[in-house]
Amino acid sequence: MKTLDIILQVVEYKSLDELSEEEQNLVERAIDAAQNAYAPYSGFRVGASVLLDNGVVIIGNNQENAAYPSGLCAERVALFAAGAQYPEVPVVAMAIVAINNGQVTNSPVTPCGACRQVMIETEVRFEHPIKLILYGKENILVVDSARKLLPLSFTSAKLKP
Ligand code: THU
Repeated sequence: MKTLDIILQVVEYKSLDELSEEEQNLVERAIDAAQNAYAPYSGFRVGASVLLDNGVVIIGNNQENAAYPSGLCAERVALFAAGAQYPEVPVVAMAIVAINNGQVTNSPVTPCGACRQVMIETEVRFEHPIKLILYGKENILVVDSARKLLPLSFTSAKLKP
C-alpha cells in the first residue's frame, strides 16, 4: 500500500493589471456577461468568457429555470455555445466571474464539478489545455489546465476496451 499525493499548482494574482491585456479583456467580457445572467432564483450571477485559438471570444452566463435542474451554469453555456459555433477551433482560455448582491465577488468563483467535467471533455476533444482565470476583486486564481481542478477524472480514454 502507498499513498499518492496529488498536488495542484495555482497561481494567485492580487490585481487585474498583473494579467496580460488579452486576459484582462477576457475578465472584462466575463463581468459584462455576468451582468446579463438570468438568475432570478439564486440572485447569483455568473459570467464566463471563452477565448478560442482563432482569437474569437464567446460568452456565457447562468440561465436558471423555475424547474431548477433545467438551468445551466455560465461555464457550460459558454463552452457549448463555442462548440456549436466553432466546432473545429480549440478553446485556449476561460475567465469566470460572479456577481452576488450586485457586486463582483471578493473571492474568485470556483466552477462546479459538472462544469469541470465539461471543461476537461473540451481539453481532450481539442488536445489543448484551457487556462482558467478565476476572478475575484481581492484575488485572482489562474490554473493552466482545467484537468488540474478535477484529479482522477473520467475521460473518453476510460471507455476504450
Ligand atoms: N453557477 C454558475 O453558473 N457557475 C458556477 O461556477 C457556480 C454556480 C450558477 C448556477 C446557479 O444558477 C447559480 O450559480 C447558483 O448556484
